[in-house]
Amino acid sequence: MPNIRQISCNHWAWALKMRREYQSVSELLREANSLVATSTSPHLDCQLILAYCLGKTREWLIRNSDETICTNKTHHFKELISRRQKGEPVAYILGYKEFWDSTLSVTRDTLIPRPETELLVETILDTFDDAPRLVVDLGAGAGAIAISLALARPSWHLLGVDINPQALIVASKNGAGITNLHWLQVNWGSAFIENSIDLLVCNPPYISENDPYLDGLAFEPQSALVSSDNGLADIYAVIFEAQQLLKPGGHLLLEHGHEQQPQVCKRLKACKFDPTPLLDLQGNPRAVLAKKRTKQTIAGSTDE
Ligand SMILES: C[S@@+](CC[C@H](N)C(=O)[O-])C[C@H]1O[C@@H](n2cnc3c(N)ncnc32)[C@H](O)[C@@H]1O
Repeated sequence: MPNIRQISCNHWAWALKMRREYQSVSELLREANSLVATSTSPHLDCQLILAYCLGKTREWLIRNSDETICTNKTHHFKELISRRQKGEPVAYILGYKEFWDSTLSVTRDTLIPRPETELLVETILDTFDDAPRLVVDLGAGAGAIAISLALARPSWHLLGVDINPQALIVASKNGAGITNLHWLQVNWGSAFIENSIDLLVCNPPYISENDPYLDGLAFEPQSALVSSDNGLADIYAVIFEAQQLLKPGGHLLLEHGHEQQPQVCKRLKACKFDPTPLLDLQGNPRAVLAKKRTKQTIAGSTDE
């Protein structure tokens, strides 16, 4: 027969083991402290990762902070936290990102859609009514812009273009079932005929090869981020193609880096566009909406 002292020791050993393996929600959320070095939002990241592992919402975590979590889920959570500690973005860990009105799948083949890019969707929906149009999203990535526009304007015909076939696989899954939206693997606008498109929207790669900001973006496809000529080569290529492909009076909406707006506007004017510069929610120059001049507006213009 074990004596009382032995029972008590065993009990403590068992209790300690249980404590190690079965942690509560609030204990697991303390892992946020281990993300401080790699994340600007460690608590939010930790909540999102735990909620994902448990199949619950962040609100559930707050209401059930004393709930104990089983060993398998705790292990899974800690594996994902260690990926975050190494700098992997939360969107790749969870496999999705919210954008405008949609939840989009993302993989390492696609850029993670940014909140700044919602400016493009907002500008288009504020500027253009629902009269039928052919609208092309050049460099569609996971499909964020094309899907948002196709859902908001069922009378428009949307084409999402990307050179990367892996990105288009993700985009077409995200856009499954949207009947006014199609995808095309092609180099910018090379598949289209002249004067055929009403509206071109593009968030091209625009970061310069030597920009130190790239160090923090190592997990994302560099082909979606980096462009030569100080980050302007793809922007200039798209402006050149837009000049040919847009109908007279058609529009190009381009996202760019916050220091690139003067060069973008200058190039647009030289290519017979009338540009309107736009700021993002942080007040940074972020995009330009440009109208292709018609024969009449070219004749009346004093620009080169
Ligand atoms: C900055 S990402 C934008 C992705 C998405 N539109 C967004 O806003 O989240 C640029 C995209 O352009 C695509 N791209 C780069 N060069 C291209 C080219 N020559 N023709 C077509 N797409 C290109 C990349 O594969 C990438 O998906």
